[in-house]
Amino acid sequence: MTATSTEGVAPKQITIEVMGKFYQVPEGLTMLQAMWHTGHELTRGVGCLGGICGACSATYRTKDSIKIKSTLACQTLIEDGMSFSLVHTYYPNRKIPYDFKEMEDPKQDLFRYYPEAALCRNCNTCTLACPKGIDVRAAVWKAVFGDFEECAEHFMPCVMCSLCVPVCIADIAPNQVGVFVRRAQGIFFENKSPQLKNRVDEIEKGVYDQEWERVLNLSDAQLLAD
Ligand code: FES
Repeated sequence: MTATSTEGVAPKQITIEVMGKFYQVPEGLTMLQAMWHTGHELTRGVGCLGGICGACSATYRTKDSIKIKSTLACQTLIEDGMSFSLVHTYYPNRKIPYDFKEMEDPKQDLFRYYPEAALCRNCNTCTLACPKGIDVRAAVWKAVFGDFEECAEHFMPCVMCSLCVPVCIADIAPNQVGVFVRRAQGIFFENKSPQLKNRVDEIEKGVYDQEWERVLNLSDAQLLAD
């Protein structure tokens, strides 16, 4: 039998362009790993490294393609000739304060907080921009027509990377609409789990205050040992 071990073989080097500068890097890295490899200090735009937190939204173009695409940098492998940028370290999204305790009909209140949601022009760029494969356009329409259950289901994989926001020609923040709907669906329309209600009651009565206080006062070493 012939040995096929690649031990000791240096990985193939490929050329990438990161924010306008060219580098030779080993193949097989993700975009984020390639940035670290090339000395970029990343203090924002990095979180879980598992495609869950949505912090690492990025735009890129592959060799010989004119199309600029969006992605999560921790989930995307580099390829030879790729050009990319981790420019979206923070989106200045509007923060709309709302309190579900003051709402009676969240399906109408949606238009009070997000009136632009009804202005979708069906361009579908939000769906194309979504790195999680959500049919964002359909989900927004579900919200507008009051089908919160379906909308919440569509948005379940959303990681709030906000890549759908700047591409919207109607200035909708689809991910924010999605969070509103998911919260409203859970509060107003889903069957309530009795266990959850019991636990919330216990928390409100202070059953866990003493234990919480104890954990907060533990040192790092105690936390590791605990
Ligand atoms: S770092 Fe969390 S999704 Fe990429």
